[in-house]
Amino acid sequence: MRDGRVIELLAWYDRHARAMPWRVGPADRAAGVHPDPYRVWLSEVMLQQTTVAAVRDYFRRFIERWPDVSALASARDEDVMAAWAGLGYYARARNLLKCARAVRDDHGGRFPTSRAGLLSLPGIGPYTAAAVAAIAFDEPAVVVDGNVERVMSRLFLVETPLPAAKPELTALAARLTPDERPGDYAQAVMDLGATICTPRSPACGICPWNADCAARAAGMQSDLPRKSAK
Ligand code: ADE
Repeated sequence: MRDGRVIELLAWYDRHARAMPWRVGPADRAAGVHPDPYRVWLSEVMLQQTTVAAVRDYFRRFIERWPDVSALASARDEDVMAAWAGLGYYARARNLLKCARAVRDDHGGRFPTSRAGLLSLPGIGPYTAAAVAAIAFDEPAVVVDGNVERVMSRLFLVETPLPAAKPELTALAARLTPDERPGDYAQAVMDLGATICTPRSPACGICPWNADCAARAAGMQSDLPRKSAK
C-alpha cells in the first residue's frame, strides 16, 4: 500500500525535479535507465556540506577526467586533491580515493549494491550508504540529511530539539519511505527541503504536502526544527 503523501510528493517531483548532471530524470527512469552508482556516489560525497550550485562544475570536471571508479582509483593523490581544491572539507577527497581504491581492489571495480555492503567501504557513512543504495540500486533505504530532518519535523510537528530529535525524525522518515521509487522519493524530499520547505520563509502555498503538514496547521512551520542551545 502506498501512502497518499508519497504519491503526492512523487507527482510533484515528476514535474519539478531539479535537473542535475548525476540525476536520471523521471522520464528516463520510467524508460528503464538506471543511474550510474559511481556518479551517484561522487555527487553525494561532494554534496555533503556543499550546495548543489557549487558542486555542479566540480562534478563535471571529475567525470570528464575520471569517468569511472577504476579511473579515479588509479589517479594520483595530488591530482585529485588539486581537482577538489575549493570544495573544502578535504578529508572528503582523501576518503574518496580510499573508497575508490577499495572498490577497485576488493570489489572488482563494482560498487556493492546494498546499503550494508556500501557501509563496509572506507569513507562511506550511514547517509551516503543509504543515499547510494536508494538512488542507484532502488533499495528502500532511509535517507536522512538536514533537509529531511527539517521536512519531517514540520510534517509531523516534532518539537524535540535537534540533535536529540534525530532518532525520532529518522523513525518518521522510515515510516514514509516507499518500496517503489525509493531513490526518486529520497531526492524528492531533499528537493522539497532545498526549494520549498526552506529554513526561513517556507513556501507553504506551493508545497505538495501543505494539506498534510501538522506544523503548518498549527502555524509553527517557521519555528521548526527547534535546536538545542550550543
Ligand atoms: N543533497 C544531497 N544529495 C542530494 C540529491 N541527490 N538531491 C538533492 N539534494 C541533495
